[in-house]
Amino acid sequence: MAPLIGETAPNFTADSTEGEITLHDYIKNSWAILFSHPADFTPVCTTELARVSQLLPEFQKRNVKCLALSCDSSTSHKAWIPDICSYSKSAATTLGYPIIADENRSIARAYGMLPASEPSGMAMTVRSVFVIGPDAKVKLSLTYPASTGRNFDEILRVIDSLQLAVSSKVATPVDWRKGDACVVLPSVSDEQATQLFPKGFKAMDLPSGKPYLRMTPMPDA
Ligand code: BEZ
Repeated sequence: MAPLIGETAPNFTADSTEGEITLHDYIKNSWAILFSHPADFTPVCTTELARVSQLLPEFQKRNVKCLALSCDSSTSHKAWIPDICSYSKSAATTLGYPIIADENRSIARAYGMLPASEPSGMAMTVRSVFVIGPDAKVKLSLTYPASTGRNFDEILRVIDSLQLAVSSKVATPVDWRKGDACVVLPSVSDEQATQLFPKGFKAMDLPSGKPYLRMTPMPDA
């Protein structure tokens, strides 16, 4: 069973391409993404790992550490890295973030990263993503099928929303991007909103007549 939003991300100690990692020590006071891959030397995975490597400065700006996981050995992961760097057109010989080795699938099992069992052979991990906060709690989980590569710009967008929600009593509406107007939390009264949002807020005029959809310019961090 995958850990639920709000639960502590299961801790583990595992080998990786950058040596032994204990998840909770690795996170320390940062945010983290933990994302799984079906197997080493698979095409879609290669494109995804390359993209995360390209986006690393964006993750770092947001104080997010990246951690990939694949159920092969770290020796196999290390042999795969030149392909990933080549695909990302990087002159670097390292990804800039570790790939965890989970040969016995214990981490994959703890995180619900395995599909329903298949009668033939060992099931490969699916494409899960967990965003983990500095408190080591799960803030988001996503599961994609093996045949669909993920969109890591979307993961950055969610992290922007999550980090904004820590500092301001707002939520973010459909297709929100950093800088767009935000939604005032329903738990905030109009009186409180006047204090909290100096740039103002406005209730949308809706057929129900209920003023529950209140928009405010994105608060400063
Ligand atoms: C891939 O990473 O390319 C892949 C892995 C398993 C199934 C389908 C695609």
